[in-house]
Amino acid sequence: MDSGFDQATAAMMLANRRNWDARTPIHAASAFYGVPAECWFASFEWDDLGPLGGRDLVHLQCHLGTETVAFAERGARTVGLDFSEQAVQQARGIADRQGIHVDYVRADVYDAVGELGDSRFDVVYTGKGALCYLPDLDHWAGVIAELLRPGGLLYLVEFHPVLTSLAPKPDPGAGPELVLRHDYLEGRGAIEHDGTHTYTDGPALPVGATRGYEWAHGLGEVVTALVGAGLIVTRLRETEQLPWPRWERMVRDESTGWWKLPPADARVPMLYALSATKP
Ligand SMILES: C[S@@+](CC[C@H](N)C(=O)[O-])C[C@H]1O[C@@H](n2cnc3c(N)ncnc32)[C@H](O)[C@@H]1O
Repeated sequence: MDSGFDQATAAMMLANRRNWDARTPIHAASAFYGVPAECWFASFEWDDLGPLGGRDLVHLQCHLGTETVAFAERGARTVGLDFSEQAVQQARGIADRQGIHVDYVRADVYDAVGELGDSRFDVVYTGKGALCYLPDLDHWAGVIAELLRPGGLLYLVEFHPVLTSLAPKPDPGAGPELVLRHDYLEGRGAIEHDGTHTYTDGPALPVGATRGYEWAHGLGEVVTALVGAGLIVTRLRETEQLPWPRWERMVRDESTGWWKLPPADARVPMLYALSATKP
């Protein structure tokens, strides 16, 4: 489908799709993604989401569905959507092997309304490495508003732009200090990445599929886009927790398995969780 982007942006999104198709088998075989679904959720997420039994939920940009299956296990009628054919195939296999029913749809998030037909949802869940692949948040927010039923909830749990600015993984030559190295704010256009390896353990990416593009999104841009689409933001949590130890000195919370910097460090947000409802 035509998502309405100019040729250059459409080409970058196509490069991203190829990059995700190439990363996916590596991720599926990785130790990084080989952990139980519950490990991918911050302690407060289930409270914020509330009971899911009998609710219609769509997980946008669901990747391998490592989180998606957890919604179905909690009784939601669950749809996972991702534009990578490889991701959707792997996600179907993972759900089947666990005996969990999830409907997976291969589609660009910008085409989700057309691709999901008449389906409308009580909950739209997305995040943890999703928004950085989206060039236009106003357009994205409009899609979310259309997918939700009146009274429905958007729950966005995303890596904080402060973490993006600090670099989610150490840059070559970077020391242990907290140094702002990358843009926090949007507006400078696409950022090209060309790396031989993905962020998990595993082999190098195939030649020709190493390039990808990301877009910075400040918190103000996210909130403004959602409010502009008519949603009501009801909560915005910022937390110092991360699901992996970005800095070697991070301390693991044994009850959640998540990580945070030790008390001697500045307290800075690593992740945020935004709840918004459709009136
Ligand atoms: C880092 S994953 C986020 C999902 C999950 N939190 C995880 O860590 O597995 C990013 C996913 O976004 C998908 N993606 C990127 N751009 C997309 C788009 N325009 N439409 C649909 N999916 C997209 C990729 O295929 C990938 O599976």
